[in-house]
Amino acid sequence: MQNTFGVPLSLLTHSATAAIEMMAILSRVAPGDEVIMPNYTFVSTANAFVLRGAVPVFVDVRSDTLNINERHIERAITKKTKAIVPVHYAGVGCEMDVIGTLAKKNKLLVLEDAAQGFLATYRDKYLGTIGDMSAFSFHETKNIISGEGGALLLNKSKYSERAKIIWEKGTNRNKFFLGLVDKYTWVDIGSSYLPGEITAAFLMAQLDKAVQINKKRMSLWNRYHKELKDLEKNGHLRRPIMPDHVKHNAHLYYVLTNSAKERIGFMNSLKERGILAVTHYVPLHSSPGGRKFCRTSGSMNVTNRVADTLVRLPLFYDLTSREQSEVLQAIHDYYKRI
Ligand SMILES: Cc1ncc(COP(=O)(O)O)c(C=O)c1O
Repeated sequence: MQNTFGVPLSLLTHSATAAIEMMAILSRVAPGDEVIMPNYTFVSTANAFVLRGAVPVFVDVRSDTLNINERHIERAITKKTKAIVPVHYAGVGCEMDVIGTLAKKNKLLVLEDAAQGFLATYRDKYLGTIGDMSAFSFHETKNIISGEGGALLLNKSKYSERAKIIWEKGTNRNKFFLGLVDKYTWVDIGSSYLPGEITAAFLMAQLDKAVQINKKRMSLWNRYHKELKDLEKNGHLRRPIMPDHVKHNAHLYYVLTNSAKERIGFMNSLKERGILAVTHYVPLHSSPGGRKFCRTSGSMNVTNRVADTLVRLPLFYDLTSREQSEVLQAIHDYYKRI
């Protein structure tokens, strides 16, 4: 992975959750520090920092890409801010140039949650290689899988030594393996963040086929996009919007319905034909955990609207052309009826 991504170090973990927790420890966030992130994300993005006593500060997402709205980040920055955590939703790159400039100006770390972004790019740079560190997920719902699995990428070598210690339960076991110490011992905080060998072996086979897997997913993604164009044109739904300077990885295909009520009808009509189309995140600011541990900066209107209207369509490697036709037919039939 280091070769593909051209970074000083990558460490396999048992999940992206583990990799984000490692980023939180490596960034040395302390109780009371603040970390800026979108609220339309998975709980692990925020929870990893709450475990360190830090406060996630939520910023609303852009209405086109559903990524953190970079124009709203600056006003969320306070003296306590330590890092920005862009989440590349659906494997579509956040506006990393703007985020990088803001981080530099305010001396903040950029910690990429690239859980969904494996092999996607932003201005020809792989997601996960642009900030200071990043996390990938190989959970069974992702493009490249190992059941549960993840990786931490470090883009600056100054983090490497401590990362290896945190990875190995807070010990210098890595030095022991290299013959640099005769016994290994406890030297820092850490946990058991490594995957098991069987998981790693499974992942290796997936990584060998990663390009082929993403290519197949892309053809499924492109077909949905093409064949739902007419429904967007007629004002029934909105398809994903891709900026020209990003190359996504076909991680997921979603549509936005015109209302929460319409989404229920949409999902039910697919369900009647045995097709599972699902919603996505409950916005973190509205969750009990979010209310307890986090704060918001500005309005959350876009996130709230997206959370009420987004539907993910079936998209997986083995989806056959016939099955995809059935999904598309069910969607078209639904809009003919309403
Ligand atoms: C944006 C994001 N971050 C983090 C995670 C956590 O990944 P994992 O299940 O590998 O811990 C996910 C998983 O769905 C995710 O979508």
